[in-house]
Amino acid sequence: MAEFRVTRAPHIEAEIRVPGDKSISHRAVILSSLSNGTCVVTGFLPGEDCQCSVNAMRALGVEIEQPEPTTLIIKGCHRQFKAPSAPIDCGNSGTLMRLLTGLLAGQPFESELVGDASLSGRPMNRVISPLSLMGAKIVGQGPKQTAPLKISGTQLHAIHYESPIASAQIKSAVLLAGLFARGQTSVTEPAQSRNHTEKMFNYYLLKTHHDELTVSVLGNQMPESRNFQVPGDISSAAFWLVAAAAQEGSHLLVKDVGLNSTRTGILNVLVRMGARLREVIDEVDQVERMGVLEVRGGSFHGTTIQGKEIPNVIDEIPILAVAGALAEGTTHIRDAEELRVKETDRIAAIVHNLRAMGAEVEEFQDGMTIQGGRPLEGTTLDSFGDHRIAMAFAIAGLFAEGRTVIKNTECVATSYPGFEEQLQKILTRAQHVSTPVISSFTREARND
Ligand code: S3P
Repeated sequence: MAEFRVTRAPHIEAEIRVPGDKSISHRAVILSSLSNGTCVVTGFLPGEDCQCSVNAMRALGVEIEQPEPTTLIIKGCHRQFKAPSAPIDCGNSGTLMRLLTGLLAGQPFESELVGDASLSGRPMNRVISPLSLMGAKIVGQGPKQTAPLKISGTQLHAIHYESPIASAQIKSAVLLAGLFARGQTSVTEPAQSRNHTEKMFNYYLLKTHHDELTVSVLGNQMPESRNFQVPGDISSAAFWLVAAAAQEGSHLLVKDVGLNSTRTGILNVLVRMGARLREVIDEVDQVERMGVLEVRGGSFHGTTIQGKEIPNVIDEIPILAVAGALAEGTTHIRDAEELRVKETDRIAAIVHNLRAMGAEVEEFQDGMTIQGGRPLEGTTLDSFGDHRIAMAFAIAGLFAEGRTVIKNTECVATSYPGFEEQLQKILTRAQHVSTPVISSFTREARND
């Protein structure tokens, strides 16, 4: 069983790139596969989750070459998938299973979706309910309609769906189904979730309409084949941003990272906590904004993260909770009950691990309150099979007294191949850099 062993790092001085964005990689594979020609996707995340997307499209008859791990040459199938000959394995990926459920609901064949133990416990009723309103025939297991899912493809009709949850996965499942439905399908969400699907629909020349929290798409459209560059994943950069921001004397540059404003909530939170951050957007023409993030470490204080901000930091909460434990004062995280149905129950996992390191944490059904500033102690922790828990607590270990061991870290391969190597580099470099490079610095972060 793989594990991380981490010791305290004096401070971080690094210039890095992070692997491709996970959400965008899934969507690039799916939209290119549906398209009317050849698409070259560069910067693809070769993590296990997105590799499952590639395998799923191949199982549906799409030809995909992968000349190198981060490049895909996808021959679009003109919306004509073939019936799969076996159940499609979505691995650990909730995004893939939910998006595929939407996509397959309107195909003229039967299919079955399966996943690993964690994915097989996650609720799929959140996508099956709206898809059923469109006429879909999908059968899951038990009241939460968990995987395996049996999908009997059928002709769908358009709906307007008021989603009770701000979830890009629900929105995307319905919009993908909408491409195969008669009429105009629309989704309204209670707060803005990540908007990659609608942005990428536009990029692939699918007609959509946006109106505040509502997105609509017309049925029977085919994506135009186009090449696509996936930016670095800000959710992966988040670990290093916190590691640098929380330590006096650190200086970090993250290059070619995605800066979509529905994903940069973490920057606003870190600035509120006192981080000295600079964001430079260098690709304004790209469908997805990308650029450079620079952070210099300094003193850090607690904050409140709640309400409409939650969907924009949903994947960053494990590392933001670690930031809260490192900050002076109290950090409140509320309205984040969604974390209970991620790869693991992330609220329980974070609270358990922070307490094991000596932090004072109160748990709520929808979040936690962390009394920051107490010294963390190295100990042996579990990842609970969740990649973001494993990585967040590896970063906590950089600040702890003694050695921190994180067990069960294979899961990191789902989203961040190369994390451990990056961690080792940072630890090795930290031991050789002794002069802090801090000078005066402006705080900047967009607030859009
Ligand atoms: C994702 C959406 C988010 C996020 C997940 C990826 C996506 O989930 O947590 O890691 O790519 O659409 P929800 O939409 O369920 O909040």
